[in-house]
Amino acid sequence: MTNAKNILEISELSLSYGHIDALKNISFTVKEGEVAALLGANGSGKSSLLKAISGLVKCSSGKIRFKGNEIQNMRPEKIVASGLAHCPEGRRIFPDLTVFENLQTGAYLCKDKALFKKNLDKVFTYFPLLADRRTQAGGTLSGGEQQMLALGRSLMSNPTMLMLDEPSLGLAPKMIELIFTIIDKISKEEKVSVLLVEQNANEALLHSSHAFVLETGKLTLSGTAGELKNNPSIIKAYLGG
Ligand SMILES: Nc1ncnc2c1ncn2[C@@H]1O[C@H](COP(=O)(O)OP(=O)(O)O)[C@@H](O)[C@H]1O
Ligand SMILES: [Mg+2]
Repeated sequence: MTNAKNILEISELSLSYGHIDALKNISFTVKEGEVAALLGANGSGKSSLLKAISGLVKCSSGKIRFKGNEIQNMRPEKIVASGLAHCPEGRRIFPDLTVFENLQTGAYLCKDKALFKKNLDKVFTYFPLLADRRTQAGGTLSGGEQQMLALGRSLMSNPTMLMLDEPSLGLAPKMIELIFTIIDKISKEEKVSVLLVEQNANEALLHSSHAFVLETGKLTLSGTAGELKNNPSIIKAYLGG
């Protein structure tokens, strides 16, 4: 892993909403094949960072390189097509569409029927429940099931990197375990790199190799998950120590 290349490189990235500076000069890298965790309290800029990377909000300055290519302020669909998928905070599934139709929306760029079928089979292997519920309206699924659907939808674009925004939010402990087990599996079996945004630092550090901490738009700490787990300020602020 030490010789792995960087799949994502963020350099001096800043983002403002009017006069609110949501991200201030952020730099960090994620290596190919790793799960990196981005921690931080509510309002620290985690979702803004993911949205900037996936082209949903415009950065004010700085560079974002994905697989060596600059993607800052590129159109979101071009970024998805290049292999970077974003599973948003709050799932954002379409409640009136069926499970299958929701999955189809994740593959809207895929014109190859065989590839679509392959990705669908992959999603149904990871989430057999979605296969059973394929004709059920997304909005009638439980919170955990909706998170599975949101993850499945992201996988339908066949990503090489997945960004997950608070996948555990609002879920029961058993469902959180299940979701993280599947994230581990996706990363190991599909060799998908993962940038995991979490307020649940305990879980995130358990399932990542490196982690970063955002505080009011600034990156204040970074290190291996092991280092951060033992860092007194992390323990005090995030691990209930
Ligand atoms: N669309 C927006 N317009 C104005 N301010 C925003 C917008 N989105 C987020 N913010 C502000 O940017 C800061 C970071 O928010 P966010 O990225 O959602 O943080 P987090 O995901 O860590 O909770 C907050 O102060 C928030 O109020
Ligand atoms: Mg957020």
